Amino acid sequence: MNPIEELTKEHGPVKLMLRILEKASDQLEAGQEMNVSDLENAVAFIREFADKCHHGKEERLLFPAMEENNIAEEMAIIDALIEEHKIGRNFVKNMSEAIAEKDSSKFIKNARGYIALLNPHIDKENQKLFPMAGKSLSEEKQKELELGFEDIEKNVIGEGRHEELHAIIHKLKDKYL
Ligand SMILES: [Fe+2]
Ligand SMILES: [Fe+2]
Repeated sequence: MNPIEELTKEHGPVKLMLRILEKASDQLEAGQEMNVSDLENAVAFIREFADKCHHGKEERLLFPAMEENNIAEEMAIIDALIEEHKIGRNFVKNMSEAIAEKDSSKFIKNARGYIALLNPHIDKENQKLFPMAGKSLSEEKQKELELGFEDIEKNVIGEGRHEELHAIIHKLKDKYL
């Protein structure tokens, strides 16, 4: 698959997980008890699929490839996106701690922070950065990215785990949405 299309497609399940998190936070706010296993699965999905795999493809391959072209407008957007990935990791770390501490309000606060950060982040990539990448990256470079992405899928995530993460999101979607 074309690497830009692949990243755009991956935003689908990430946005779906944000909707699940929103719903889970609403339920906690309404006084429901924490479902530790569901929330742990949600955090595992975010850590592995959204961060390690998807943000890994962006940070390790797409952004450096675009930076080689040295286009000021692209560089500025990329700097902001990398910063948002970092802020996101902190929200996820805090969500994970909140589950271990059974601290609902800490979980809600960080889940909502993550949702508010990542939705516009994804929109910025879909609407601004990815169309720029489609124009500024040569066909050869895009082919190179495609192969690099395959490598991340295989060696960073692994096929079996990829299937498990898909099963997690389907299960949570059926339960929460
Ligand atoms: Fe990103
Ligand atoms: Fe992304």
